Amino acid sequence: MVKIQLIDTPLLETKTSATIFFLEQDFDTKKLEKVAQHYFPDLTEYMKDSEFTGKASNLLAVPSSVNKKVHTLFFAGLGKHETHKLIDIEVYRRSLGRVIRGLQSRKISKAAISLPAASLFGVSDEYLARETMIIANMAAYRFDEYITDPERRVNQNIDLECTLDAHDKKAVERGFKAGAIIGHSVNRVRHWVDLPPVALPPIALADKAVEIAKEHNLEITVFSEQEIIKMGMGGLAAVSAGSEQDCKLVIMKYTTEKKNAPTIAFVGKGITFDSGGLSLKPAASMETMKEDMSGAAAVIGAMESLAQLKPDVNIIALTPLSENLPSGKATKPGDIIRFYNGKTAEVRNTDAEGRLVLADALSYAVKNYKPDAMIDLATLTGACAYALGPFYSGMMSQHEDFANKVKAASERSGDRVWALPFTNDYKAAIKSDVADICNIGSGKYKAGAVTAGFFLQNFVENTPWVHLDIAGTAFDVPDISYYSTGATGVGVRLLVDLALEWQ
Ligand code: BES
Ligand code: ZN
Ligand code: ZN
Repeated sequence: MVKIQLIDTPLLETKTSATIFFLEQDFDTKKLEKVAQHYFPDLTEYMKDSEFTGKASNLLAVPSSVNKKVHTLFFAGLGKHETHKLIDIEVYRRSLGRVIRGLQSRKISKAAISLPAASLFGVSDEYLARETMIIANMAAYRFDEYITDPERRVNQNIDLECTLDAHDKKAVERGFKAGAIIGHSVNRVRHWVDLPPVALPPIALADKAVEIAKEHNLEITVFSEQEIIKMGMGGLAAVSAGSEQDCKLVIMKYTTEKKNAPTIAFVGKGITFDSGGLSLKPAASMETMKEDMSGAAAVIGAMESLAQLKPDVNIIALTPLSENLPSGKATKPGDIIRFYNGKTAEVRNTDAEGRLVLADALSYAVKNYKPDAMIDLATLTGACAYALGPFYSGMMSQHEDFANKVKAASERSGDRVWALPFTNDYKAAIKSDVADICNIGSGKYKAGAVTAGFFLQNFVENTPWVHLDIAGTAFDVPDISYYSTGATGVGVRLLVDLALEWQ
C-alpha cells in the first residue's frame, strides 16, 4: 500500500531516502538550482549526459549522498506543455507509475514528492490528488502471495511525504481520501481476478461481496443454485450445470439519502473459470480464463468504494457467478433454455456462456428494480479484444445520453472505452430456427462483439443501457506502468466516477 501524507517541511529538508520531481519537457534548469546545490552540484550536466529532457517516457534516478546518507533523486518527464495544449493526465499517471516501480525495485520505502501543478493538466487540485493516490497504489500492486522466494517478492509499503505549491490543501486532502478508497478497491478487485480459479469459486466471490456489504452497510442477497433454478433463471442454471460448484446470483444495494434520486444498475459477468464447457476451448485459450469474472469483480469492488463515497444515486449491483465446465451433466450444443423473462435461446456453442448468465441478471434487474439506467461489464468476446486491443473496452449502446455519460466517466477515470457500431443491422445475426434467439451470431455477420451485444439487448426492454466488453482490457495489458502482469481492475474507476458525477 502507498500512503501519502501532506507535510509543511520544505522538500529538501525531509528525512526520506528519495525525492521525486515531475518535469515538463525542456524545463527551465533554473528550477533545479537549489536541488543541485543540496544534493548534486553537477545535476544539470548529468541530466544532459543521460539524455533526460522531460519527455513523457523519461525517468531518471540520480543517486546522491548528503551527510553520508544515500539519497536518490527521481526525475519523471511529463512531456510537452504548450499554452494551447495541456498535458494529458494519462501521461502523469504513467509517469507516476514508473516512479513507483522505480522506488520498489530499489526497495525504497520512504520518499518525498512534490505534487505537480494542476494547471499543467487543466484539472482541479482535488482530481489531481485523487488520481495521484489511485495510481500510486495501483502501480505498487503485485500478485505475489504464492511466491515463496523472498527475493522475488516486491510487494512493500511505501510512504510518500508530499509538499504542495499553490495547491488548495483542503481539496488535495479530499482527493487523497477518495483516491485511497478507490485505489484500494481497484487492487482488491485485481487480487480476486488474479487468485487461481480453485481459490475463487462462485461461493468464494459471493462471500467477498457479503463481507463488503457487512462492513459498509449495504443490503445484500445471495441466491443459491436451487433458488436460481426455481426462479426460472435457465441461463445461469444451464451454464452451471456442468460444474460441481453451486452458481450464485449476488445482489448488492446502495441507497442514497437524497430524495427522488435515480437508480442505476451495475451488472457484471462472473464466470470464475471458463473452459468453454462441452464446446471446449483449445488449451492456450483457456490458460487465463480465471479472468472471466473480471466484470463481476469490478462491480463488487465499485460498490465497496461507493458505499464509502456515498454518491447521490441509488445503485443495484447484480453479479451472476458460475463456473463453465464440461461434464456428463453439462449443457449441450443444441439444448434450448428459457430465461427469467420467458424468452428462449438455442445454445449452439457452450463457450458463449457469458451472455446466458447476463441475460438472467439483466432481466431480473429490469423486472424487479426498473432502473433508470443499466450498465453491464463483461469479458464477453475474443472478437472485442481483437477489434480494439488491450487499451480500450468496447462500448455498445443505443442510448446516446447514457453512452455519453459513460464516455465522459471513462475519460475522467482513465478506464477508456471506444464505441462500436450498434445499429439494428446486426440484430438478425442471432436468429434461430428453433428458439427466440441463438447464442452465437451467424458467420455472415462477423462482428462477434456486436452480435453478443444484440443478444443481451433482448433482456433490457426499454431501459437506457450500455454494454462494455472488457475482454481485451481486464488482464495482461502491456506497457501501462501502473498495471503489472495479470489483472487490471478495469471498470472500477469508471463505475465509481459514473456514480459520483451523475447528474
Ligand atoms: N470468456 C470468453 C471471452 C474472452 C476471450 C474473454 C478472451 C477474455 C479473453 C467468452 O465466454 C467466450 O468464450 N466467447 C466466445 C464466443 C463465441 C463462442 C461466440 C469467443 O469470443 O470466442
Ligand atoms: Zn466462453
Ligand atoms: Zn466467458
